[in-house]
Order: sequence, then C-alpha cells, then structure tokens
Amino acid sequence: MSNDGVNAGRRRFLVAATSVVGAAGAVGAAVPFVGSWFPSAKAKAAGAPVKVNISKIEAGQQMIAEWRGQPVFIVRRTQEILGNLGKITGQLSDPESKSSVQPTYVDPVVRSIKPEILLLIGICTHLGCSPTFRPEVAPADLGKDWVGGYFCPCHGSHYDLAGRVYKSQPAPLNLPVPPHSYESDNIIVIGVDQEKA
Ligand code: FES
Repeated sequence: MSNDGVNAGRRRFLVAATSVVGAAGAVGAAVPFVGSWFPSAKAKAAGAPVKVNISKIEAGQQMIAEWRGQPVFIVRRTQEILGNLGKITGQLSDPESKSSVQPTYVDPVVRSIKPEILLLIGICTHLGCSPTFRPEVAPADLGKDWVGGYFCPCHGSHYDLAGRVYKSQPAPLNLPVPPHSYESDNIIVIGVDQEKA
C-alpha cells in the first residue's frame, strides 16, 4: 500500500468520524431549542385570558384585576362621571384616542364597550408607574377643576376617568384599553376580543 492510499483511507475515516460527531452535536443542540418552541404551562397561564366578576364594584369605584402580569383597572362610572368627561375635552391631549391604544370596538371618547364600565391597563404611558385612582371632585391637592381621574405619583401625569391624558404632561398617550368582552352582564373576559355586532 502506498502512503497515498493510507493517507486517503485515514482522511476518509476522519471525515466520517467528524460527520458523526457533527450530527450528534446538531441533535444535542436541537433538543433545548425545540423545547423553547413549546411554552411551559406557567407561561401559558400567564398569557391566558382572565375572567373577572364585576358585580361587587360599587358606583364610582374601581377594582384591580391582573392580566399578563399587568394591573387592569375596572371602574364602574356614574352618570355624573360620564357627564364630566365631555366638559374637559379641550384640556386633553388625545381626547378621541386617535394616537392611543384601544380595541376598535371600544368607543374612542368614553373608551369602553358599555359606557359605565371602563377597563384600562394601569401602567403610565410615561415610564411605567401605576397611576393612583383619584375619583373625587376638586380635592385640595389636585385643584378645584379636577373632575376625577388618575394621578401618576412618579412624575405627576394626570388622566381623566376614561384614561385620557391631559395636555402638557410627561405621559404622551392615554392609558391603553385591553382587549376584553362580556361573557354575561357581570363577567368580563380580559384578553378575548368582543365579537363585532
Ligand atoms: S411614570 Fe407616570 S408620570 Fe412618569
């Protein structure tokens, strides 16, 4: 056998061995990767819709639900609150929510499916603090023109009781309205869109 023959045979062996290792390596790498394509039960639960019973929310008050790790404010608005929304239009930055985030089936001004029930993602559109619910009219610290809304304690953004931000605030946009629907009069499903009528 010539040296060439030996070398050629050895080369073939090395190539074959390398291919096997390469294939094993590829399989080894693929296992954790495939695993990442399927979300864990915990991850699925975190992204799942949330059902909320709103029957205990009193007029003019709110409850806070949690959806996808975010607070969702749910407010039962009174006729007085709804009436006040129309009086402050000129003081708002985006009164018809043209630039803000909300589902298409939500009224752009009162920002809800049913006028009296408001849902908002409770995260300030400035830097993500959670605004404080301040439904009272004309409290000393917010001034005589305050008709109820949300106040962000971090940098002082003011929102009304439709989650619409006032002009000249650090926050650029209205509080987002999450996708939601009614399973019955008192059960709201957050994370499932209302079917179009
Ligand atoms: S985070 Fe709300 S005003 Fe800055």
